[in-house]
Amino acid sequence: MEPVKVGLLGLGTVGSGTVRVLKRNSDEITRRAGRGIELVAAAARNLDSLGDLDVSGMRLTEEALEVVDDPEVQVIVELIGGTTLARELVLRAIDQGKHVVTANKALIALHGNEIFSRAQERGVMVAFEAAVAGGIPIIKAIREGLTGNRIEWLAGIINGTGNFILTEMRDKGREFADVLAEAQRLGYAEADPTFDVEGVDAAHKLTILASIAFGIPLQFDRVYTEGISGISRDDVVYANELGYRIKHLGIARRANGGIELRVHPTLIPERRLIANVDGVLNAVLVWGDAVGPTLYYGPGAGSEPTASAVVADLVDVVRALTTDPENRVPHLAFQADALSDVSILSMDDVQTAFYLRLRVLDRPGVMADITRILADLDISIEAIMQKEPDEDTQEADVIMLTHQVREGNLNQAIGRIESLDSVITPVTRIRLENLK
Ligand code: HSE
Repeated sequence: MEPVKVGLLGLGTVGSGTVRVLKRNSDEITRRAGRGIELVAAAARNLDSLGDLDVSGMRLTEEALEVVDDPEVQVIVELIGGTTLARELVLRAIDQGKHVVTANKALIALHGNEIFSRAQERGVMVAFEAAVAGGIPIIKAIREGLTGNRIEWLAGIINGTGNFILTEMRDKGREFADVLAEAQRLGYAEADPTFDVEGVDAAHKLTILASIAFGIPLQFDRVYTEGISGISRDDVVYANELGYRIKHLGIARRANGGIELRVHPTLIPERRLIANVDGVLNAVLVWGDAVGPTLYYGPGAGSEPTASAVVADLVDVVRALTTDPENRVPHLAFQADALSDVSILSMDDVQTAFYLRLRVLDRPGVMADITRILADLDISIEAIMQKEPDEDTQEADVIMLTHQVREGNLNQAIGRIESLDSVITPVTRIRLENLK
């Protein structure tokens, strides 16, 4: 059978990895797909910077549109990132009846509803395994492997750069900016690295995961997002002393009254497997009612790990080329006309435990005042630790862990605690999840 003809948009980190993997493993891939997969055209921003990449057999251009419009190209692989040009190119490819593979999480999170609906109309596939957790086949696992389950919740370390920074801060006491620069050099970080450290990238991925886990439309604007730039080394050390690790998690959970969608630093017990996922690695823990907990672990970024997911999608597309569009695996796991619009909970109504760090004057009655405020708001304390006071200032850090509490109540308590004369700096609060 004729090979399937593919056009590549972008020859950067992931694009060049895709070329290398497709060429190196071409025989194995053909045996799996049942047909060859041939890269016939590619667009790159700067053709002079391709180095020694083997681009033989490919028509090269700096105009992505030429690849999309190339009549020979049957499948477009979009690896340019961003959401403006990428959206235009992907929609144009779909309108021409071409299938699309993309690694673009922002594109899917922000414009996926439009893209999938257009793809549905045109009977083409849009595959996006590489958009979430790089080389980990998490989309396939949730969409197909767990399809018999009602998924109750998932929690993931889905940004490698953030995980790398937190790990290096804990293990080596390195400075935040220094570790971030290294992640950029290694090609893990986003073009705008605030997307990594402020949780935007993780929120894009969580949007996608929640949609395929619960059968809801993509709702990026409803994800609560908090980054790691406010995490201090003291918090990392205190969390360790209490038997916890701080991880930047994306969490999606069915709760009473709606769905929780949130990305934030989180204390998790150090004995959990996911607490020990370090460096640039990602992991996603998914809890299904039939299977219980399952954990998916691996490289969430990087050239060939992400290319591994891109190529897997290409093979899926090739295998499904001749199938009836109505009988393919739905883009968002649930049939397009069966998505439900369960509401997303406001953070005030989310219930979690908390880690609190307070800087207080070490004098009689301070702890009593604080605990009275917590008790008045129905907040139960699980553990308290007071550090040695500073000899000159008589200021001391007090660390508390609470039981589960409605976030709205905790915010009220913090407001009252911060108005006490004996409490010196704003209270640091980090959510805590046991992930049972
Ligand atoms: N910047 C992302 C990360 C790349 O660090 O995980 C993969 O999406």
